[in-house]
Order: sequence, then structure tokens, then C-alpha cells
Amino acid sequence: MSQPTPASSGSQQPRTRLGILLSGRGSNFLAIARAIANCSLAGVEIAVVLSNVAGAPGLAAARELNLPTECFVSRGRLRAEHDADVIACLRQHRVDLVCLAGYMRLLSPGFIAAFPDRILNIHPSLLPAFPGLDAQMQAFEYGCTVAGCTVHFVDEHLDHGVIVLQRTVPVLDDDDAHTLAARILEQEHLAYPEAIARVVSGRYRIEGRRFVAHAAQIS
Ligand code: GRF
Repeated sequence: MSQPTPASSGSQQPRTRLGILLSGRGSNFLAIARAIANCSLAGVEIAVVLSNVAGAPGLAAARELNLPTECFVSRGRLRAEHDADVIACLRQHRVDLVCLAGYMRLLSPGFIAAFPDRILNIHPSLLPAFPGLDAQMQAFEYGCTVAGCTVHFVDEHLDHGVIVLQRTVPVLDDDDAHTLAARILEQEHLAYPEAIARVVSGRYRIEGRRFVAHAAQIS
């Protein structure tokens, strides 16, 4: 499995360039941006924030942070044609690693092939349980006592690729789907930067479906 350009702590080394794709409020994007700003996520930079929805609040937040933004409205367009524009834009911004952060659009096979094993997604359930929409509501209504979120590589199947990291939350007796979703979201904001750090470190291998971190070297 190919890996994104490894990050380095040296200031002379190029940083791994992230392309963030979002469609909505962008809280996961902002969590990534915060982690970069406070140096808890090192060796990466946001090359571009791209949306398929012109009015996405996350896009406005990116503009406020003076980050490069792009918008390719997807409504009414063929998936392959829209994705071709997005791919060209990501290449133009020299993106190494694509991070889907509430990007409400399935990727075409051509998109996945253009960034092999270099697309991450965050999903608000403990996959493989509850893929698809309204995952928190699905977990709540199913009666789960533990819920959570998953950061995974994107493959050609929905919410399916190799899992990088998961975080759990308890489902409390007085929860409703909204309070549960809020508690999961707090964990998403921790999980995504941590997963990006693991991937850009390059210190892992994929064994079947397993993401195996290399043991830390003791000098
Ligand atoms: C998050 O719950 C994420 O897991 C899912 O979409 C939501 C996006 O939220 N894929 P935000 O736009 O990052 O606030």
C-alpha cells in the first residue's frame, strides 16, 4: 500500500499537504486546523479546503482563516465529470493526502484511483456497524450501549476501507440521538488529527484489513 509523503519535524522538510473536502459545518476541518495551529499535529499543512456546496459554513470558516478555498458545485453534474474537476484542483494544490470531513458525496472509482490509499474519511459510528447516513441515530435506536467514531481509508465501498483509528463513547440512559451525536463529535475532533498524524508518520503497514503501527524505536 503506498503511503503519503512522510512528514518530518525538520523545518526544511516539506510538509504533507492536506486537501480537506467538506459539504457542511466543517467542525472536523476546524479541529484539524486547530491541531496544526497548536502543533499537536506536526509536519502537515492545509493546502486547500474544497467544497461541493457553495454555502457550506466550513468553506466560510476556511476563508476566515485565510486558507485557500475552492468550490465545485456538484448538484446536477455527472459524478465522474465533477470528480475530474476536483482531482485536477487537488493536483494543482499539490495535495498529498485527501481528508473527507463531512463530504456528502460518494467518490467515483476514478477519484479513488487518482489518490490510491491517500484518502481518509471520518464516520460517526464504530464501523462496520452503521455505515451510511444518520449513523448516530442508527446506533441509538439499535440500543447500543457503546458508540463512537472511525477514521478509515476510503476504498470503493461505502464507509468500508482499512480502519486507522476508532474512539468510543458510552450511550447514557438519559441520552437522545442528539446528545449522543454531540458526545461522538467531541471524540471525532480528537480522532481525526490523531489519525492523520499516524498516517503521515508513515510508520505503519497494512496487513489485510489491519492498520499496524510500527513499534517505536528506542535509541
Ligand atoms: C461528522 O459527524 C462526520 O463524522 C461525518 O459528517 C459529519 C461532519 O461534521 N462524516 P462536520 O462538518 O465536520 O462538523
